[in-house]
Amino acid sequence: MTKTMRAVEITKPGGPEVLALCDRPIPQPGYGQVLIKIAYAGVNRPDALQRAGLYAPPPTASDLPGLEAAGRVEAIGPGVTDLTLGDQVCALLPGGGYAEYVVTPAAHCLPVPDNMSLDQAACLPETYFTVWSNVFMRGGLKAGERFLVHGGSSGIGTTAIQLADHFGACVFTTAGSDDKCQVCRDLGADFAINYRDQDFVQVINNEGGADLILDMVGGPYLPRNVKALADDGRLIQIAFLQGPQVELNFAQIMMRRLTITGSTLRPQSDLAKANIAEELLKHVWPLLSKGSIRPIMDSEFPLENAADAHAHMESSKHIGKIVLKVS
Ligand SMILES: NC(=O)c1ccc[n+]([C@@H]2O[C@H](COP(=O)([O-])OP(=O)(O)OC[C@H]3O[C@@H](n4cnc5c(N)ncnc54)[C@H](OP(=O)(O)O)[C@@H]3O)[C@@H](O)[C@H]2O)c1
Repeated sequence: MTKTMRAVEITKPGGPEVLALCDRPIPQPGYGQVLIKIAYAGVNRPDALQRAGLYAPPPTASDLPGLEAAGRVEAIGPGVTDLTLGDQVCALLPGGGYAEYVVTPAAHCLPVPDNMSLDQAACLPETYFTVWSNVFMRGGLKAGERFLVHGGSSGIGTTAIQLADHFGACVFTTAGSDDKCQVCRDLGADFAINYRDQDFVQVINNEGGADLILDMVGGPYLPRNVKALADDGRLIQIAFLQGPQVELNFAQIMMRRLTITGSTLRPQSDLAKANIAEELLKHVWPLLSKGSIRPIMDSEFPLENAADAHAHMESSKHIGKIVLKVS
């Protein structure tokens, strides 16, 4: 008889209320995969997009939401040599994190950093994979460069500020309240701009313009970001909270040698994600183990209250990450 687990599924596209507790079969690890017994699962904005029917999971992924989790290795598939039963890990998931068990490639698991609790570790994978791959691997941020990240108090923002500051960039960020701006400064931002009463383009141009911008807002921010870039600057788009379509004068791109690029993590190949995991283990995990940087946790909800967690995230009252307590 197939063993079942508790999970939260998306019953139909819609608001937080469409998330509902259900029973599902416990998945079995295939080649190169492990089964994780989840203690905590991270909640991310892309989960809300999936719930709303705007971000379909890849064809081979679970339909359950949840892109990251922390827990214990419960079973190991063929071909896995680096992990053993009982190891505590945090893992990037193709989906399926809102559940008691999940399978994921072993190469997408990272050890829980020293002295870190499992709820904090569950906050790491989605944002650290996203920020490292975009800001450092794709964007090539270097010490001494001026870096602007929008949404500074988001899971992504709190991670990007700390990493960019640690690696020697001058960090600018935007957020929607003075309290959020203060948190961003405490995390290492040199300039935290409350976008409701200050123009980020003016602030950053007074300092010479941005060498690199990480943006999730899009829409009207696109031409403003282009104005805020220094010559040879790079703009990396990781979402379009205010829409993907806008009118833009491309002559600027040519005349000032600008680069506009972007990426989404989830559809990338297992190998590409494994490469990011390797880089994180080498360059970032020692910093987390030393406590030089840390996940910023806003709140914790029981798995069965995933709808409340989504409503809280969509209220944008949170600062940092939201997690679900699973077991
Ligand atoms: N490309 C990828 O692979 C990838 C991976 C992970 C996440 N993401 C994207 O990165 C963004 C941050 O993710 P997260 O999980 O860290 O989210 P989050 O913690 O919910 O943060 C999003 C922040 O954006 C701001 N915001 C919300 N709605 C907005 C709107 N309509 N216009 C402007 N700002 C808005 C809010 O800050 P204020 O209150 O300060 O405005 C909010 O705190 C999301 O858009 C997500 O989809 C992309």
